[in-house]
Amino acid sequence: MVADLATIEAALREEIRRDPTEVSAPMADLFAAGGKRVRPALVLLSARCGHYDLGRVTPAAMAVELTHAATLVHDDVIDRSPVRRGRPTVAASLGDEPAIVVGDFYFAKAYEHAARTDSTEVVGILARAVMEICAGEVRQQAIRYRYSTGVEEYMQRIEAKTATLLTACCDIGAVLGVLPDVQRSALHAYGRLLGLAFQIADDVLDYLGSEGEMGKPIGQDVTEGFATLPLMIAREDKRVSGRLQGVLEDGRKLSIQDAQAVVEIVRESNAPQRAIAQAEDCARQAREQLRAIDAGEARDALEALTGYVVTRKL
Ligand code: IPE
Ligand code: IPE
Ligand code: MG
Ligand code: MG
Repeated sequence: MVADLATIEAALREEIRRDPTEVSAPMADLFAAGGKRVRPALVLLSARCGHYDLGRVTPAAMAVELTHAATLVHDDVIDRSPVRRGRPTVAASLGDEPAIVVGDFYFAKAYEHAARTDSTEVVGILARAVMEICAGEVRQQAIRYRYSTGVEEYMQRIEAKTATLLTACCDIGAVLGVLPDVQRSALHAYGRLLGLAFQIADDVLDYLGSEGEMGKPIGQDVTEGFATLPLMIAREDKRVSGRLQGVLEDGRKLSIQDAQAVVEIVRESNAPQRAIAQAEDCARQAREQLRAIDAGEARDALEALTGYVVTRKL
């Protein structure tokens, strides 16, 4: 499995190297800068629960990581983020317009690789996931600077932007692994719940993490006008709600100082811990889905991922 991921990594780098320099240079940098490769691992592990054919799994795993990389390049335009994986974002170094087209190039390349699996189902799954992510991003613009947005909207938001792709990774692995329907739906539910836990943890790290470890700025979400679960819980905490109320006014972009103050108030509250408890709950439900999967190394690794997503520091 580790060896297979390394093969996929090498293939990705080789593929990117062959692309025209204008688009490949920023993408090669982004890949070289790191990243956890959670999504290709999910494709591999899901396929491993059934019949494993590395020849078909490899292009699929490459496709999901290329899709992820393209969403990051676009996300950093939308979130106006200066740093990704410890380096300047593509948008920061080249400008927004080139970053958008670099992202587009790699979305297309992702489908090219998905097509190499010879499975129209795989291509369809990936295409529908990207459509859902894009629709979610557009919806998210409507709540930008609306700090009073609620948990229901938040859950729909993280489902679209993050859980969708993790679910698709599991679905794709399950298709290629020719799993029976019961196991396919279990992995589908697992991917979704893992994705929810993963994004809640990411949103907590945006308050509690360190830029050094995360490789991206802390406090970026509220600075850019996005209320996430830790902030929503803190607003319900009587010890800090008054102070937050004083700073957060719907429709108003926060100054750097105000955003910093919000981060500190949220850190003082027990909201990050309570948000993590919700992530743990999703992770536990994800783990339960794995009962439908045959015992073995792949299931063990999928189970380990449910612990990792909520304890990770990067
Ligand atoms: C970042 O994803 C975007 C989110 C969905 C939170 P990752 O945390 O998987 O980013 P890398 O690939 O490891 O950098
Ligand atoms: C994930 O959300 C966005 C994507 C699906 C690409 P974030 O905006 O929280 O991701 P980071 O924190 O920038 O990695
Ligand atoms: Mg972002
Ligand atoms: Mg984030």
